[in-house]
Amino acid sequence: MENCKHCMAPQISLDVNNMMADAIGEKGVNAARVDALAEVAAKAAKAVESNRGTGWLGWTELPYNQDEIVADIEETAQMIRNEFDAFVVLGIGGSALGPIAVQQALNHLHYNELPDGKRPGPRFYVEDNIDPERMASLFDVIDVKKTCFNVITKSGATAETMSQYLILSTALKNAIGEGWQKHIIATTDCEKGNLIKLAHQEGFKLFYIPSSVGGRFSELSPVGLLPAAVCGIDIRGMLHGAKCMDGRCKSENVWENPALLEAVLQYICMQEKGANIQVVMPYADSLKYMADWFCQLWAESLGKNVTRDGAPCNVGQTPTKALGVTDQHSQLQLYTEGPYDKVVTLMKVGSFRETTEIPHGCEQFADVAFLGGKTLNQLIEAERQGTEYALYKAGRMCQTITLPVVNAQTIGQLIYFFEMATAYAGELLNIDAFNQPGVEESKIASYAVLGNENEKYAKKREEMQHKAERKKQYIL
Ligand code: PA5
Repeated sequence: MENCKHCMAPQISLDVNNMMADAIGEKGVNAARVDALAEVAAKAAKAVESNRGTGWLGWTELPYNQDEIVADIEETAQMIRNEFDAFVVLGIGGSALGPIAVQQALNHLHYNELPDGKRPGPRFYVEDNIDPERMASLFDVIDVKKTCFNVITKSGATAETMSQYLILSTALKNAIGEGWQKHIIATTDCEKGNLIKLAHQEGFKLFYIPSSVGGRFSELSPVGLLPAAVCGIDIRGMLHGAKCMDGRCKSENVWENPALLEAVLQYICMQEKGANIQVVMPYADSLKYMADWFCQLWAESLGKNVTRDGAPCNVGQTPTKALGVTDQHSQLQLYTEGPYDKVVTLMKVGSFRETTEIPHGCEQFADVAFLGGKTLNQLIEAERQGTEYALYKAGRMCQTITLPVVNAQTIGQLIYFFEMATAYAGELLNIDAFNQPGVEESKIASYAVLGNENEKYAKKREEMQHKAERKKQYIL
């Protein structure tokens, strides 16, 4: 385990040995191919570096430019902890997955069930869907009079989030009347959208998302920092971790910059080796929603059908989550013997925050008794090594990201590592990694279905009339 040269914090690492042909044979990546791409990779790194903070690269500055915002967030978080029993995030996609992932990574795994004295903040919920049953269920477990709602939407226009806002603000008005606005905090784009106007009109406490920070790159902005701080998480540590990783991503040498190496390897996987699926498999419950957060980042950023020069393409790699060890008993058979269309990213925790011993017993059964005296920590790591070996033996590409410990600093590093790798991969693929036209199409179509009278949606409604007729023979 290496520590940061500047602050001595433990560093996460990327081990790509089992990605390489030297280790797993012909299905692996040749080091010579990485070398051949070194110049292109350096160009990608230069492009990201020289555009830092501009265009859609505002997230690269978040570890550095938020001193005042962090102070405001901490003060607001303290107020929320003092005054409310529950804190509910209303948001979706990039406005929800980060808060969920960080909470799972850095707080108690049964946080909401802990008694008040033992929980570092109010109970925490992220409502990232509009399932009517789920919304009804939320009302069964919170008292709106004692709940603070954080409405998070970068665009300030997302139907899911704004419909939740309408439901919850109405509930607040009915339950509280005057002063209901104190229960709402808005986090939105600093310039445009409906939510900013609404927030000014109603006097909600407001946090801004810089215009140059897109939804899925916003976890280290107030989108993620406020919910984390409310739940007692060390947000300065997260930002510090991101800064450390940024320092490690300065090199243009693919063999020295971990995010650049990751981008180049995955580029080779998806463009040359037919490995169009990346399975992210953390061996720790704390990291399972980090995998979800990564899946959105990688999928929405890289899944594109046109290059930046306007040439048609269909690129991207399908990210999918598996949980170690649970999914060894569900998916691993496919990963080891199914098609060679995957690369597996294992996540390992060096030292868990708890040690759970396995007592001695069942001495009459040798295969059970041998577990006695060991720990679950040893068992989960042995199983991770077992999976790594099974994949290796089957000639499957596999890499391991190790977090020496799961803490605010290493989670900050991990977030920034994946963000950088995504930006580099976008450069290598020559696509716009920061838009999402495919998602917009579905948003517009659903507004059209709902009967929005705006011309844009009316036109879409008209267009949708011409879609292929459903044939009865295909519906059984
Ligand atoms: O990354 C993105 O831009 C999207 O996934 C958005 O986060 C998601 O669509 C929600 O958008 P908004 O934050 O504008 O409500």
